[in-house]
Amino acid sequence: MPLSFADSTKNSISLYLLDEDAAADWIKNQTEDMQNWANTNGFTGSLGQTLICPGSHGISMAAIGYGNAISRKRGRFHLAAGAVSLPKGIYSLNHTLDPERLTVESIGWLLASYRFDRYKKQKPMPAKLIRPIGVDSELIEAIANGEALTRNLINTPASDMSPTDLEAATRDMAKNYDASINVITGGALLEQNFPMIHTVGRASDSAPRLIDLKWGKTGPKLTLIGKGVCFDTGGLNLKPGTSMGLMKKDMGGAAAVLGLAYMIMATDMPIQLRVLIPAVENSVSNNAFRPQDILTSRKGLTVEVNNTDAEGRLILADTITLADEDDPDLIISMATLTGAARVAVGPDIAPYFTDDADLSEALYQASQSCADPVWRLPFHTPYETMIEPNIADLDNAPKGGFAGTITAALFLRRFVTNTQRYMHFDIYGWQPSDAPARKKGGVGQGTRAILAALPKVLKL
Ligand code: BES
Ligand code: ZN
Ligand code: ZN
Repeated sequence: MPLSFADSTKNSISLYLLDEDAAADWIKNQTEDMQNWANTNGFTGSLGQTLICPGSHGISMAAIGYGNAISRKRGRFHLAAGAVSLPKGIYSLNHTLDPERLTVESIGWLLASYRFDRYKKQKPMPAKLIRPIGVDSELIEAIANGEALTRNLINTPASDMSPTDLEAATRDMAKNYDASINVITGGALLEQNFPMIHTVGRASDSAPRLIDLKWGKTGPKLTLIGKGVCFDTGGLNLKPGTSMGLMKKDMGGAAAVLGLAYMIMATDMPIQLRVLIPAVENSVSNNAFRPQDILTSRKGLTVEVNNTDAEGRLILADTITLADEDDPDLIISMATLTGAARVAVGPDIAPYFTDDADLSEALYQASQSCADPVWRLPFHTPYETMIEPNIADLDNAPKGGFAGTITAALFLRRFVTNTQRYMHFDIYGWQPSDAPARKKGGVGQGTRAILAALPKVLKL
């Protein structure tokens, strides 16, 4: 079921979103009975607090506390924080939010109603919100549903999200939006010169593949690349059990770019979009690639495999090479690429790399306005020596333990030569515990920020 607003109805319940400063005045303006009710309930308008006012036919109205500027800084989707505890009903929001904030809060409401119910029926959120006015509610629905797609893809375990399944999911989406799709699978990867995608994925029963989706006939060219490692065992340099525990999410980059592609296509953005997903499973088998193997990439650069667990950069390198051959206006890669990114910024923030200061600034501003936190990390060129072993051009797993997210990003940048603007995100793709509108599980990062930045970045 897509996430959506309710259409306006006579039986809606007024829902007041009240700043802590405004709550006392609001209470004073109510009937005496209601004032007593609010005070008895201790309603002060603190963040996420709810007040349900009884009437002769059920609920007469309701209020959600919006806290204050300081308490709001501690979270992102504040309306959602209260909305989840409202009783069943259709609510019309009474608020003083500016359109930007209303957009964020409305996205939050829809995302609070997201459920992953493929394997077990889940109780739906009881409250529905009437389509908000003064904002683009269809854009909001597109964003929420793109995010829901990302979450569904990540949450689905590898038993049902193999490279074959990821291809099927992409084809489903392509069909809905009349996008064209081309997939290079198994041995054909070798014939068409994608050696590293084949090498990483060849040990799995689900053949490695490169998914290539194209949509849109005119406008600037945007190419999105997502790491699609459907499960990352680490390969022969096997991950310990605790590190492997979450590795169904190692296709989080693919899931994120597919969610973003959904948003772009559903809102009919005037761009030429290409989505490239190298989809593989990093498995252990007699034909698995080995530590110290030296691979020759599509670009011709040789890579010494010093850890088969640094597989993401290998499959991305061949994919970036293909993207770069077309010289698009912008390439964005998204990947659950390193554990080091999580150590640096934790699960909430999406670190990104780009050499383009204007692009970076546009993204950062957009991220601030849509509650999708990102943070720039440097493509620090002096660290290039860390990814240079002496018997091959590149080392996929530098020793020393320094700046792992930066060295991974530098590795990818080596494969961009024609394209002027490149941006890379090292995302975590997982919400570790329940938060408003962010249920524990798969989550998109950076996608809403990118979507919001595109008009400026691509001069649409
Ligand atoms: N998929 C992992 C990175 C990862 C781990 C992301 C945990 C999020 C959470 C990736 O393939 C990997 O294992 N990278 C190694 C690289 C190292 C061997 C150079 C890492 O980060 O430890
Ligand atoms: Zn790995
Ligand atoms: Zn991985």
